[in-house]
Amino acid sequence: MDQRHKGTKSVARLVSQSARPTRSTHPRSLSGGDSGVIFGRLKPGALTILRSLWLQVGCLFVPFSVLIGKVLTAAEKHKRNRQINRFMMGAVPDSGILMSKPRALITGASAGLGREFARQLAADGKDLVLVARRVEPMEALAEELKNAYGTDVDVIQADLSDRETPVALFDEVQQRGLVVDCLINNAGAAGIDLLRTEDWSTAHDYLELMTSSVVAMCYFFIPPMQQRGYGRVLNVASVAGYVTTPSDYSYGPTKSYLIAFSRGLSGALRKDGIQVTALCPGFTHTDFHASDKLTRMKRSSPKFIWYDADVVVREGLKALEKGRDTYLSGRLYRYIIPLMRLPLSQRLIAALGIKV
Ligand SMILES: NC(=O)c1ccc[n+]([C@@H]2O[C@H](COP(=O)([O-])OP(=O)(O)OC[C@H]3O[C@@H](n4cnc5c(N)ncnc54)[C@H](OP(=O)(O)O)[C@@H]3O)[C@@H](O)[C@H]2O)c1
Repeated sequence: MDQRHKGTKSVARLVSQSARPTRSTHPRSLSGGDSGVIFGRLKPGALTILRSLWLQVGCLFVPFSVLIGKVLTAAEKHKRNRQINRFMMGAVPDSGILMSKPRALITGASAGLGREFARQLAADGKDLVLVARRVEPMEALAEELKNAYGTDVDVIQADLSDRETPVALFDEVQQRGLVVDCLINNAGAAGIDLLRTEDWSTAHDYLELMTSSVVAMCYFFIPPMQQRGYGRVLNVASVAGYVTTPSDYSYGPTKSYLIAFSRGLSGALRKDGIQVTALCPGFTHTDFHASDKLTRMKRSSPKFIWYDADVVVREGLKALEKGRDTYLSGRLYRYIIPLMRLPLSQRLIAALGIKV
């Protein structure tokens, strides 16, 4: 066969191919076969609608299947967490995930919210490490919890305004052979004016207690939790960290830092099975307002803005188990704090000189 002939044949084949009705021009082209009979009876407009519907369903299918995947993964995680939580509550004898009895370390456990955390966690079946400067109230609490729930309680005296304390605490806990699964950074104090303290070391100690010690406690106690794949960290902040009033450059900003710090940690550690929450209480009945100035403020304020420590702690522990990164305690504060954060409200607060 000569070259010319070959060329003619291939042209002929091309012509015959192009003469065949293509899928897009054939009236039954949408699906072909028997179903083509059905589609063939449809008007062209209906076919266009069907095609665009199919395209939309197809487009939806990808995100939908991704969503289904995410829901299934979340359900799996939730199931695993529930199993761990049930073990933490003492309901599951040994899930194989945690080999030792759950134990919580609570700073500022000699009074107020810290004492209440100890009571509620002990009632949940956890052993405890209590930390504060005053030993006697902690020993009395340890005795109470041993008698009530058979709780194993370690008491450690420590001043968290000293920068060496967190590492010393960690070493002490290791030496005693204690495993800490739950860290409650609660110690704190009110009533300092950072720019009017007599010497800088007082201001520095305050910042150490309110912020640096919390970071250091996380620095030392979180890595072993990561290794075990389970951990709970609750940092006690305040509504004052949400709404820093213009004249408060001392207490409120330290709590704002704890809120931001906890949010970041929560996002970073979730994948390791560690939940972090910043608990933000409003005015709570504790020894916190024991100074003359704060006692006067307490007496002159309406009763409905005050909450009991047991309510604040119960809500905080629930928020921690639910994996909330921040939690405003008290219904009143959950309503008013978002309103107070509006720019107009901020101006009003400044004008009236309100302190949170
Ligand atoms: N009560 C409220 O209205 C309120 C509102 C929002 C947020 N908060 C926060 O809640 C947390 C607990 O306060 P609270 O109301 O329970 O007050 P609290 O009754 O005065 O208790 C404070 C606890 O912190 C401990 N503490 C203070 N300085 C310490 C230090 N240098 N080293 C170690 N421990 C120290 C105290 O123990 P020692 O004196 O024995 O050391 C005490 O156990 C604080 O972080 C506070 O900022 C309280």
